[in-house]
Amino acid sequence: MNTRVLTGITTTGTPHLGNYAGAIRPSIQASTRPDVDAFYFMADYHALIKCDEPARIARSRLEIAATWLAAGLDPERVTFYRQSDIPEIPELCWMLTCVTAKGLMNRAHAYKAAVDQNVARNVDEDDGVTMGLFSYPVLMAADILMFNANKVPVGRDQIQHLEMARDIAQRFNHLYGQGEDLFVLPEVQVDDDVATLPGLDGRKMSKSYDNTIPLFEGGSKAMRAAVMRIVTDSRGPGEPKDAESSHLFTLYRAFSSREQAATFKQALEDGLAWGEAKTQLCELLDAELGPMRERYADLISRPDRLEDILQAGAVKARKLSVPFIERLREAVGLCRSISVSAAAAPSTTKSKGKAARFVSFRDEGGKFRFRLIGADGVELLLSEPFDDPKAAGAAIKALQQPQALQSMAAQEGGMVSVRLDGRVVCQYAEEVAADVEAALASMGD
Ligand code: TRP
Repeated sequence: MNTRVLTGITTTGTPHLGNYAGAIRPSIQASTRPDVDAFYFMADYHALIKCDEPARIARSRLEIAATWLAAGLDPERVTFYRQSDIPEIPELCWMLTCVTAKGLMNRAHAYKAAVDQNVARNVDEDDGVTMGLFSYPVLMAADILMFNANKVPVGRDQIQHLEMARDIAQRFNHLYGQGEDLFVLPEVQVDDDVATLPGLDGRKMSKSYDNTIPLFEGGSKAMRAAVMRIVTDSRGPGEPKDAESSHLFTLYRAFSSREQAATFKQALEDGLAWGEAKTQLCELLDAELGPMRERYADLISRPDRLEDILQAGAVKARKLSVPFIERLREAVGLCRSISVSAAAAPSTTKSKGKAARFVSFRDEGGKFRFRLIGADGVELLLSEPFDDPKAAGAAIKALQQPQALQSMAAQEGGMVSVRLDGRVVCQYAEEVAADVEAALASMGD
């Protein structure tokens, strides 16, 4: 079985070189492995928690989608979508919210950090804390559990969220699974080999430190300008430099082959000027990013095409989320298959009240079944599972023939078994036999 790998990026900013090397590039690489089913998405509902500027959110969604595609993500191979195009995610989020202990959320790092800051500032401890921030981990759990992901590659700061997702999944399984697991328990994947790039000042490259190197935005020029601002020591041209302690070298190494890195290191030790070293770094970056930059500009300039790709991704994702939410609705008691069919049942029956009816549906295992519902709305029988919907349809049809049960039904123990072509299609208790007969007879009227 393939491993389902899922990860999301919150759409509040413009991707920088650190995002590319630390998340996007390794994710795209992983997606090409034959044993991996990748689900990558833009967490734009999460973005609303951190940002209330519509224009910024809209722009960021566009930039992040274009970045993934320009960097080589194949949307045919990967399920690539926007969180907000999958309405089953917020629906699942609510189901999960109802089984999540508030105490668990009280322990979330992001929420606790906000409280600590408020305490330090001597204001109300929940000052500025929204319910979105407080229950952020539940929405993230919904993202992951909706698609039953096995592995979730994230940064270290997200490990706690994955633990919470597992907690919530276990609780839901226990409450509603009836011995069967509804959700797969996801595993966190923190890859220490993946480059964590240093920023201009040597600290981790991060928007919050204002030390980033832009990826595609602003083109080669903006990137060059940033590279020229990388902080180095004061050794002049000709003076030997310590490559290992220079973050310029760390950046170089994240994009070069081993041989290139060795040559570059030697050159620095032999006195290569910092200015020249920066030029070489730019050339190296341009070699990898140049072609992508062009694709990026092209994608950004045609948002309608990007939208088409995302809509196709949403369709692909919803092929899974729609039937799964149906199954979850059934598990929690919000079953739709009966109520929807009942609402849609024609009211043109000759009898006064509601009519008895068959309701077909797909069960948890993806098999086709039907129920016979009496005129009073009570379920009279549940069929055996069928692999083929046509076989289920044929059984319904056979049951509706006049006096069908006379030839098809046999009493066995306290049960009645109904057979079609030698195969048991359904069983029901003898006590309801009269009701079943009456219901079937009323349909034949
Ligand atoms: N919280 C993640 C971050 O800030 C983004 C995210 C949202 C996510 N939903 C997810 C990551 C589901 C992995 C899986 O980085």
